[in-house]
Amino acid sequence: MKKCTFQASSDIALVKYWGKKDAENRLPENGSISMVLDGLNSVTTVEFVQNLEADMISIDGSEISQDSREAKRVIAHLDRIRALAGSTLRAKVVSQNNFPRGTGLSSSSSGFAALTLAALGALEIDLPAKEVSILARQASGSACRVVNGGFVEWHEGDSSETSFSETISGAEDWDLRDIIAVVDSGQKTTSSTSGHELAQTSPFFSIRQKNINQKLTQCRKFIQDKDFSALGALAEAEALEFHSIILTSTPPLIFWKPGTVAVMHEVQQLREEGIECYFTLNTGFNVHILTTPENEEIVTERIGKLELVKSTINARSGGSPVELTEHLF
Ligand code: DP6
Repeated sequence: MKKCTFQASSDIALVKYWGKKDAENRLPENGSISMVLDGLNSVTTVEFVQNLEADMISIDGSEISQDSREAKRVIAHLDRIRALAGSTLRAKVVSQNNFPRGTGLSSSSSGFAALTLAALGALEIDLPAKEVSILARQASGSACRVVNGGFVEWHEGDSSETSFSETISGAEDWDLRDIIAVVDSGQKTTSSTSGHELAQTSPFFSIRQKNINQKLTQCRKFIQDKDFSALGALAEAEALEFHSIILTSTPPLIFWKPGTVAVMHEVQQLREEGIECYFTLNTGFNVHILTTPENEEIVTERIGKLELVKSTINARSGGSPVELTEHLF
């Protein structure tokens, strides 16, 4: 059978997906908008093999146990794709991330987008972009965004067929930079998937829901106008609103480490000095700092100098996934 390899990038949500109104179909409580990140990449090779008894999955150099939650999620997704082709063949899947996974840098978005495209390619199934997004969504919500490139909107939808993503503006239209401050090397203890289930338990969730469509309209407009000051301020306020919700869930989710807060303060300090940058973060402790190309160097230097920052990763607005001719096995 054909071997197929895709590289997909992760993204950073500017307006976040939080809560599911239909967990089985992964329909979100609200629409979301993100920037795809060239620099945080997953590469995945898939081959469906005759006479293989079970799917074999290896991520970042280690074989994943069949009983693990991670493997079950991958196998469930392979089953969806096998069903499309009427195939019962088991697959060999090898995936490699160039950034730490499970630390709040959305490795499930890039990982499941690359898996979706590589598995479709390996079974020679050709789907329109909208259907690829719908399929990726069923594995991980954020993966439905990064099957497209640039600045991407995931339409909330009210059914599986109406919940998919589209590009608002291409990566080539607006070159923004994202400096990621890695403040801890451990993995986070609660996954986004479990966190979503708590959304409704925060007393502030209903307030968020009231204002979210207006926020999405503003975000879309700031991207179209390339208004960095407005977009950065919106993204930072959104990250704080999102963390207010998870901090007040039952049970509360406290992801911040001392280094997370130190980075937030440094970003505010940089702005006071006239160096424009804004922070945002997901379910995790590592911080994304959005800035423009002319300030990338100074921001990287200042953030990298902080005692509690272990390393920095530089990313920029990125494109849609690409098929590679070099395979991982
Ligand atoms: C806070 O897409 O990881 O990063 O659909 O369960 O896989 P699942 O969740 P996931 O959730 C991402 C949540 C977020 C915000 C965002 O990326 O929009």
